[in-house]
Amino acid sequence: MKLNESTEHYNLHNGCLEGKYAVFSQKKLAQLKGVFADEQAFAAKDGEEIVYEVSSHTVVPEGTPGGLFFGTSCIHPGTVGGEYYMTKGHFHAKRECGEYYWGISGTGLLLLMDENRNCTAQLVKKNSLHYISGYTAHRLVNIGDDDLVVGACWPSDAGHDYGSIETEGFPVRVICRDGEAVIVDDAHAAG
Ligand code: F6R
Ligand code: MN
Repeated sequence: MKLNESTEHYNLHNGCLEGKYAVFSQKKLAQLKGVFADEQAFAAKDGEEIVYEVSSHTVVPEGTPGGLFFGTSCIHPGTVGGEYYMTKGHFHAKRECGEYYWGISGTGLLLLMDENRNCTAQLVKKNSLHYISGYTAHRLVNIGDDDLVVGACWPSDAGHDYGSIETEGFPVRVICRDGEAVIVDDAHAAG
């Protein structure tokens, strides 16, 4: 039997993916309109700034039952009006699908929200492991001064549903107060 070397590579230290199945995407600040509470501070920033980057390893087409996707997210450090940079956040379109996240480098929070808008947070750092149950929206927040790099593995038929997060957000926001990350109730969510 001929032994073939894999064309696919994963750098355990920085999360970089390389190979013919690696797909790369970037999220600029302008694409995150409405995500941050302070609209004035948002408008004053450069919309071209890259907030986060996602590398995905997608061997099978999106929607394939029984397959898996693997990826790494890199959320850069920064704030909008004191609110830390974060991902958009989503439920999976196929709600029952779970996901694994694991911390590779940096410091962050993983916000988890069930369908009744009950929210919890987990500290993400190098080697932390996070099982995201089905029916649970998830968002990463970079609360450190360096890039937050997080690995992920999820079913290839999970899909993404950004709709309710876009309209209602999460019930909490993570802000920088005196240099420390603080989780506060979203004023808009109150009542
Ligand atoms: C996949 C997953 C991650 C995120 C990524 C970007 O199901 O959870 O790969 O897609 O961290 O976050 P969103 O998709 O919320 O912009
Ligand atoms: Mn997900």
